[in-house]
Amino acid sequence: MKHWLAGLGAVALMGAAPVLEAMAQPSPAAVVTQRREGFKAAGDNMTAVAAVARAGGDPRGTVERIAAIQAWFATAGTMFPAGTQQGAPGLDTRALPAIWTDRAGFDAAMAAMQPRLVALREAAASGNVANFQAAVQATGAACGDCHRPYRAR
Ligand code: HEC
Repeated sequence: MKHWLAGLGAVALMGAAPVLEAMAQPSPAAVVTQRREGFKAAGDNMTAVAAVARAGGDPRGTVERIAAIQAWFATAGTMFPAGTQQGAPGLDTRALPAIWTDRAGFDAAMAAMQPRLVALREAAASGNVANFQAAVQATGAACGDCHRPYRAR
């Protein structure tokens, strides 16, 4: 059976490729919505984890939330395509243009999350309250290290 594109000439196909590619990309507004939902969920999980730490509770119950935060940060770096900064028309986002002018710094701040979250998860799983509390502090600091330069207040 002939492919439906077979009737098109090579030149037409070359012209169509970027169009098809653009169609496959989610719109900037859709990316921002997904990005903010992802950070919001991570924030809600982190708030719950921090509450257990503050109360000196058993950290083992927080492992699942920490795993969810880890899963988000494994892909969060892909949620910042060009053109999705604060000030772009029609977008409701606090992502500062500095993310794109200093991408290396932003990527480093993103990469710094992973070892903190690994340590947090290990401390939680161990059941050691003091280690868990220290790891929650260290993780929260890493959130702030990115928010200060790269997220609008
Ligand atoms: C590498 C950078 C970076 C790191 C690390 C980071 N964030 Fe963020 N965060 C952002 C940016 C940028 C935004 C703004 C996103 C937007 O508005 O499009 C944001 C937004 C948020 C929001 C607001 C979501 C909303 O409702 O719009 C919350 C909550 C949040 N982050 C929590 C956290 C927590 C908790 C951590 C640490 C566990 C963390 N973030 C780590 C960059 C980061």
